[in-house]
This record gives sequence, C-alpha cells and structure tokens, in this order.
Amino acid sequence: MGVTAVVVLAAGAGTRMRSTLPKVMHPLAGRPLLWHALTAARGLAPEHLVAVVGHGRETVGAWLETNLPDVATAVQDEQLGTGHAVSCALDVLGPLTGTVVVTYGDVPLLRTETLAALVSAHQAAGNAVTVLTAHVTDPTGYGRIVRDAPDGGVSAIVEHKDADAAQRAITEINSGVYAFDAAVLADALTRITAANAQGERYLTDVVGIARGDGRPVGGLVAEDAAETEGVNDRVQLSDMARTLNDRLVRSAQLAGATVLDPRTTWLHADVVVAADATIARNTSLEAGTTVAAGATVGPDTTLVDCRVGVGATVVRTHAQGAVIGDGAAVGPFTFLRPGTVLAAGAKVGAYVEVKKSTIGPGAKVPHLSYVGDATLGAGVNFGAGAITANYDGVGKYDTVIGDGAFVGTNTTLVAPVTVEPGGFTAAGSTITDDVAAGDLAVARGRQSAVPGWVARRLPGSTMAAAAERAADTTSHHPATPSAGPAAIPELPGPLTTEPGKASPA
Ligand code: UD1
Ligand code: CA
Repeated sequence: MGVTAVVVLAAGAGTRMRSTLPKVMHPLAGRPLLWHALTAARGLAPEHLVAVVGHGRETVGAWLETNLPDVATAVQDEQLGTGHAVSCALDVLGPLTGTVVVTYGDVPLLRTETLAALVSAHQAAGNAVTVLTAHVTDPTGYGRIVRDAPDGGVSAIVEHKDADAAQRAITEINSGVYAFDAAVLADALTRITAANAQGERYLTDVVGIARGDGRPVGGLVAEDAAETEGVNDRVQLSDMARTLNDRLVRSAQLAGATVLDPRTTWLHADVVVAADATIARNTSLEAGTTVAAGATVGPDTTLVDCRVGVGATVVRTHAQGAVIGDGAAVGPFTFLRPGTVLAAGAKVGAYVEVKKSTIGPGAKVPHLSYVGDATLGAGVNFGAGAITANYDGVGKYDTVIGDGAFVGTNTTLVAPVTVEPGGFTAAGSTITDDVAAGDLAVARGRQSAVPGWVARRLPGSTMAAAAERAADTTSHHPATPSAGPAAIPELPGPLTTEPGKASPA
C-alpha cells in the first residue's frame, strides 16, 4: 500500500550548531542534511512531500525552490512543538486519508528501506500509529517508549523532562519517526495541549490520545539505532559524515569499484564510480563527479563536478568542472578549472593549469604550462613552459592551435592568436601574429657570443677556472683572451653580472 504524505520537520533553531546557517542546510557528503532526509522520504513515492520550515526559512525555502521544487513547504512561524509543526503541514495539505509518515530534516542517515519497513509494519498491523524506536545505551534527553504488558503495544511516549525515575530507566527511545493513520493524526492534533514540562505541543501525545480511544499503537525497533540519530552539533555532523561516507564507499565497492583506502576516500552522495574503476588513497570525489570503467583516480586528488572517461588516469590533481576523455592522462600536480575538456587520449602533465579550454585528441601539454581560453587540435604538442597570455587586465582572448601544430618550449602565445594546422613556433618565441599552416615562427632575440668574457670579468671565479681547464683539454677554444679587451665584442646594452658589479661597457 502507498503512502499519502511524508512530513519532514525542519523548523527548529539548531542552536548547538552555533551557526548563521540553518542547521538543516549544513552539508553532509556534499548535500544539505535536509536533502538527505527528503531523498529518503521521496523513496517512499508519497503523493505529498512537505517540509515544515521556520528558523532560517528564507534560506531553506529558497534552497528548496531551486533544488527540490517538487517539495511543498509549510511555514511554522513560532516553534510551539513537534505536534504544532505537524499541524502546520496538515493545514497546507488539507484533509487526507491513508498513511502519513513524519520524520525530521536533521536525521540524515535514515534510509528509505527503514521507512518502508515502518510503513509495512504499520499497515500490516492496521495500527493507528506506529513509532520507529531504538534501543540505546544512554537514553538521556529522548522520549521513552512505554510498552504494555503483555502484548507489547506502545501505550505512551514520555518525554525525558516529564518522566519519573522508573520511566527514565527505559532504554527504548522514540526516534521521532512515525507512521500515522491520517484521520487519527488530524483528530488527535486538535486535542493535544501544552500542559507539560516544556510548555510545548508534543506530537508524542498523539500516541496516548490514540490509545485512550482504544486504537492500536505499535513500535518498530530500528535494526540500526545510528540511522535514527539527529545532528545537534558539529561533532555529530562529522561523525555522521564518516558513517555516511563508509556507506557510500562500501556501496561503490559492492558495485565493482576498487577503493584502495576507504578511510581516506571521500565520496559525495551523488558521485558515480563505475565497475572496475580504481580510486587510490586521499581522494575526494565531489558534486556529481562520475568515473568511468577502468579509470584510475588518485592518489591525492580532488575532483569536483568532473567526468572521467573510460581508462583515464588522474593522479595528484585538483579539478573542477572538467571533462577528462577516455584514455586521457592527467597529473601529477595538475589544476583543471571549469570548462576544461580533454579529448580522448589527451595528456596534461606536471604543473599545468588549464582553464576553459579544449585539448584535442592525443594532444599533449606535458609540463609547466598555462592554457586558458584556448582550443588545441588533435595531436598538438604544447612544449614545456609554453603559455597562453589570454588576459590583458581587462578582457580575455582566445588562442587557437590547429591539428598537429608544435608549440615550442617556453612559447608565449599572446591572444588573440592562431597557429594553423602543422604550424611550428620556435622555443622561446613570443607569438603575437598568427602562424600560417606549416610555417615556422621565430620571435626571439638572436644569441651572440662574447668570447673570453668570463676570464676577463670574473678572474679567479669557479667559472673562469672551469673554462681554463676546458681550454687545456680542448686547445682550439682558448679560455683566456689572447688579445686585449678592446678587441673583444661586448654584449649589446648593459648587463649586470652580480649586485654591486658594474656591467661591461
Ligand atoms: C523529539 C521527541 C522525542 C524524541 C526526539 C528524538 C517530541 C515532543 N519529542 O524530542 O520523543 O525522542 O525528538 O530526537 O516530539 N521541530 C519543529 N518545530 C517545532 C519543534 C521541533 O520543526 O516546533 C523539529 C526540529 O527542527 C527537529 C525535530 O522537530 O528536527 C525534533 O525537535 P526537537 O526539539 O529536537 O525534539 P526533541 O526535544 O529532541
Ligand atoms: Ca532533537
């Protein structure tokens, strides 16, 4: 049988987080706590899914509207208690029949399977209310489950602050998750009062009211109490992040991924790692990253919103918004920024940064480069230290390198500029004009020699001594000038050799 509505309570203040961010917006595995709660609830395929918002409702409401527009919101202006919060939701939904599930926005580990087990138990028993309970070692602060002898039904939930010594000794607690008969819930909520230690309208009082009316109330003990835990502070938040990550890594492993070190591998909730992909240690895959079969990612890699193709390797890399093609090789020590597309078999190596650029099939950017706003064709070789000068302080300009072109080591490509297919730039060139297909472009100062300069300017230096030794073994190249200094050509322009030393005239 189906579920009519799931109500997710998320109006509380969450003061122990000590945060300006509403508690339910704190992220876990890359998604707000509330996303986890709503995703588990959505798994029940209810007709209505409602979040009750209050504290920080502008932030929470805006996030819901953008990210989960199918979720209805009910506003609880003042937090008058969990019973009042559910009334706010029912006011939005109107009269209902069937099963209504209530759960919390700050309980992120609860799985759809557990909610479904609660609903099945509830419907199979024909209960008016079924409470998801848990056995815990320290029940302090929780509502206690009071069961009847001998049939074991639940007769009441007593809040910690209202409980007597005998009730406080009970270690079965209320998780705060329930399945209700819609009509019983709506009726009982009109009858609850705030006559209790906290002056709140307790949802838990619905149990006592239903029992008083002679209706059956059951309790289902959660198999894993940890699943029902809420987040109250940041210590619990990181503990739960660990637990959820263990779950995500384990499910990737069971789906066929090799995870070399689960303790240092962090996966966001929406990451997909294919069978026969390998994740090495200290690797964080975030924000919808996908890793295809046979790819290896890590060690020491963070990928945010990236696609990694079949058989690609990504080592010691930080990348965001990048598409890494099949068989491409990235790293080590590589930074890929949004808009990077590496075609199949492309290589981007050590100390290379790429931004908003396409690197063509089989093209190589192996060492020490910056490639920004560029398109590199198939098989391009982008030499060590070559860069695009894409920014003049005001605008960004494009660089286009045609198929099979060769960009020599330490070329500076001053954009906008094009190197046509098969063009060649000489090492050390500053390219400001387009290079035609098949041309060599040389744009650098020519080398000139000043024979004997070392011996004359730096007599007694290590260099002079070495040059002298070399001259002894290769007599044709004298290290000591045979003529006077006046006869020797000097370097054009001033050249300072060391601080404090004059340059040659
Ligand atoms: C509640 C239960 C308690 C249970 C515990 C489990 C009641 C009266 N008590 O206690 O039996 O053991 O949860 O964690 O229900 N909320 C609103 N509006 C409100 C009050 C609360 O939206 O006016 C939301 C909170 O944001 C939170 C949830 O309801 O997500 C629980 O509220 P909280 O105040 O933490 O209830 P507890 O006192 O812990
Ligand atoms: Ca609580």
